[in-house]
Amino acid sequence: MSSLTKPELLQAFKVDLLKKVCPAESVIDYGGMWRVHGQYSILCRELGCNRVTMVDMYEAPEWQNESPLTDDIEFLKENFADPLFMATLRETYSLSIAFSIMLHQANLLDVLARILERTEETFCFCQPMIREMETSRGLVFLPEHPKEELSHQSLYNERVNFFQPGILHPSNWIWGMTPSFFHTALECNGFKVTYEEEFDDLSKRQWFWWGCIAKRQKLHPVFAVAKTRYSM
Ligand SMILES: C[S@@+](CC[C@H](N)C(=O)[O-])C[C@H]1O[C@@H](n2cnc3c(N)ncnc32)[C@H](O)[C@@H]1O
Repeated sequence: MSSLTKPELLQAFKVDLLKKVCPAESVIDYGGMWRVHGQYSILCRELGCNRVTMVDMYEAPEWQNESPLTDDIEFLKENFADPLFMATLRETYSLSIAFSIMLHQANLLDVLARILERTEETFCFCQPMIREMETSRGLVFLPEHPKEELSHQSLYNERVNFFQPGILHPSNWIWGMTPSFFHTALECNGFKVTYEEEFDDLSKRQWFWWGCIAKRQKLHPVFAVAKTRYSM
């Protein structure tokens, strides 16, 4: 049996995903700060990525202490759910990382589209997901769900249910996504899942950790022309 704790095993799972996609010429790590203080951005540099950017609206004090490891990582203290900020990102990145961020975005599909627009090749993703349902491509909006097993586990205190509409702050709203929903959302943005893996169950029966790697697909020439016209 492994001597690692659950959080350490989860970190190792995310690290394995990154090792499958690095080195990349340029990387952007969305939401890389809380608890990990840029650890995945730092790893990308160590794995030979030339240009690494991290975006997070929170700046942990520990981030400052990580110097010199973080000296050549560009940190943007911004809200990536804000389309006006995303429009200021003029460049594109070979690789985008989205670890444990998508489930909290109120404008989920819009955030995903803005991220993928700026992703040239590879999208690396991991977060808690919910099991497939009777109808495929399911997406459940939480806070709270009448079915106990669909509700997300409380982050802070098992006895108090923070995931009630009146209690939870919108920045912690939760989307329960099935893998088939996410496959389709990626395909709608020109990306296809090339690798996927389940990691572990969460304490609520329907929830589990899931990761995937998706690659940009070549557009059919007819659509490529149409896209260029509409984006002019
Ligand atoms: C659950 S933590 C995940 C941290 C790390 N990526 C990991 O996998 O352990 C979510 C992080 O994303 C950031 N975040 C979430 N939504 C954001 C947004 N719209 N704009 C900027 N940062 C955001 C939070 O501040 C936090 O640092």
